[in-house]
Amino acid sequence: EKGGHRHFMAKEIAEQPTVLGDALAHYLRDDTISLPEPGLDFSEFDRIVMVACGTANYACVVAKYWFERLSGLSVEVDIASEFRYREPPIPPRTLALFVSQSGETADTLAALRYCEGKAARIVSVVNVTESSIARESDLVLPIRAGAEIGVASTKAFTCQLTVLFLLALKGAHDRGRLDGEEMDAYLSALRHMPGLMNSALARSGDIGRVAKAVAEARDVLFLGRGAMFPLAMEGALKLKEISYIHAEGYASGELKHGPIALVDKSVPVIVMAPSDHLFDKTVSNMQEVMARGGKVLLITDTKGAKLAGDGCWKTLTLPEVEPMLAPILYALPAQLLAYHAAVAKGTDVDQPRNLAKSVTVE
Ligand code: F6R
Repeated sequence: EKGGHRHFMAKEIAEQPTVLGDALAHYLRDDTISLPEPGLDFSEFDRIVMVACGTANYACVVAKYWFERLSGLSVEVDIASEFRYREPPIPPRTLALFVSQSGETADTLAALRYCEGKAARIVSVVNVTESSIARESDLVLPIRAGAEIGVASTKAFTCQLTVLFLLALKGAHDRGRLDGEEMDAYLSALRHMPGLMNSALARSGDIGRVAKAVAEARDVLFLGRGAMFPLAMEGALKLKEISYIHAEGYASGELKHGPIALVDKSVPVIVMAPSDHLFDKTVSNMQEVMARGGKVLLITDTKGAKLAGDGCWKTLTLPEVEPMLAPILYALPAQLLAYHAAVAKGTDVDQPRNLAKSVTVE
């Protein structure tokens, strides 16, 4: 049942190239994005509100960067437990988008019900299609990740991101902001993702060695900029939930506004930064960390490793990827790092203490 893996989590991490490829094939017909009935036309909306919990919420925060950049729509993202009691105004031309692996998360379901009769459309991105959230949506977009058994969400996260990226492309197309050539370029970059993921998975041994050292730490910081910022939060969540190491994710630029006070030689600082237009800024944040004796683990591409120069504690390189899609690829080393750290600590990887796979009570 674990397909030769020691844990479901390891199996589910390894499955990502396959399930992501299947999800793509499902949504792409003749090189165009095809959504299930009754479809979706983004020219009908003025804004998007996205609501979810935990890892699914981080997928929404990544997607906010995509929707804003590609479709020009303004996007609000909230965690469901706050959204539902805040009772925010929902103008009529709002698309309300709910993301949930299980489709049963109580707070997310309550947030969806709050939007009924207010939002123009209620759309859900779920893994379990026979779920309450799916049943109560106007349109259901399955992520097609297959059963996810490990409590820590892995393949569901990258499949959520894939479906959300396709939606952002559709939004850009519907609103006349993406020509055929640009669309083809993004779709081709997506089609390359399973191959890139396989190269990332091939680094599992190296990541395992780094993870052994990370497992010794009491506190770990994750840093990222742009769409890599929510991935930093996801990396921290993964590490804390299965290895019980205290970890926080921050936007790189926030470092000097507080968290840098934590930095000393016992705190690994994991910087997730492809060599994109923000890379220079991240390098200067890294230098601030190193100047205070902090141990930087840089996860980047070959170009980034060169630009970063010397001084990092450790560097892990991934293949180059279309910058917008980097959060999908960089999710894998974040997951593997948490997994190997948990294995090194001997925790119960698939059933971490105090956690449930489906949170049906608030
Ligand atoms: C973290 C994790 C949780 C879930 C959250 C939402 O690894 O699994 O944070 O992401 O409980 O669950 P769903 O997606 O089922 O609504």
